[in-house]
Amino acid sequence: MIIFENQNDLQLYLQNEGINKKIGFIPTMGALHDGHISLIKESSKKCDLTICSIFINPTQFNNKEDLDKYPKTLEQDILLLKKNECDILYSPEKSDLYLAGEKVTKYNFKNLGDVLEGIYRPNHFNGVATIVEKLLNIVKADYAYFGLKDLQQTMIIKELVRLKKINTKIIGLATVREENGLAKSSRNKLLNLEGKKTASLIYKELLLISSSLQNNDIDSTLIKAKEKLIKNNISIEYLEIIEINSFKISRSINSSKKHAICIAAYVNGVRLIDNLIL
Ligand code: PAF
Repeated sequence: MIIFENQNDLQLYLQNEGINKKIGFIPTMGALHDGHISLIKESSKKCDLTICSIFINPTQFNNKEDLDKYPKTLEQDILLLKKNECDILYSPEKSDLYLAGEKVTKYNFKNLGDVLEGIYRPNHFNGVATIVEKLLNIVKADYAYFGLKDLQQTMIIKELVRLKKINTKIIGLATVREENGLAKSSRNKLLNLEGKKTASLIYKELLLISSSLQNNDIDSTLIKAKEKLIKNNISIEYLEIIEINSFKISRSINSSKKHAICIAAYVNGVRLIDNLIL
């Protein structure tokens, strides 16, 4: 695996070695887990060159404490990438991607950016889109891979690519889970064993909601689910059913459209998100 810390070096390399090759790209913030590895494997299957980036993007964090707490495991990540046959790692410093004092770009993602994560993490998606736009313009990949655990983020990035006419196909891949159902996430590294056990109740509840919806309305189902989670020391930021393409909150299921149950919740002070596509 070749490691680049500088975008010019990476671009120079790709201008020579990337010609006539299908390029797959996996942007990450490190603390890699099986979810990321599934993206790398899919890219390696489909593409001639697989590029991963590791950059903890400060502009997408709403508060400094969250940024400071974010797990940083670069050495382990490099070993994992080598083991999984990633071809190139781009792991820059902030100054390689942002000018001093640079502000995020303000995008208009309409409803997609105004609900759920958009409400609870103001400006988060502007930060995500700013860095992903920069990265996609550097790498110029044929395909870029994202985990559907971050369903709203994946939809935002699809919209970003459409708005900015970026020639990269965005692929969302299924959430990888622990045996107990807990969605794999870099933030799980901040949970102890007990916390992980508690957090596994989130996905179990999403499954129960899904089956309960066959006989009950959305509102009463979600109220009951929230009560149960709260009793188990899980504090909920949101628990909603949305229509996937618009991310509009659904009060009933329209069988001609695709819906998902989306949740953001805190377990032992760690913010987790998950979803279940219905
Ligand atoms: O999902 C992530 O890890 C980040 O939001 C991303 C897409 C790498 C942008 O910093």
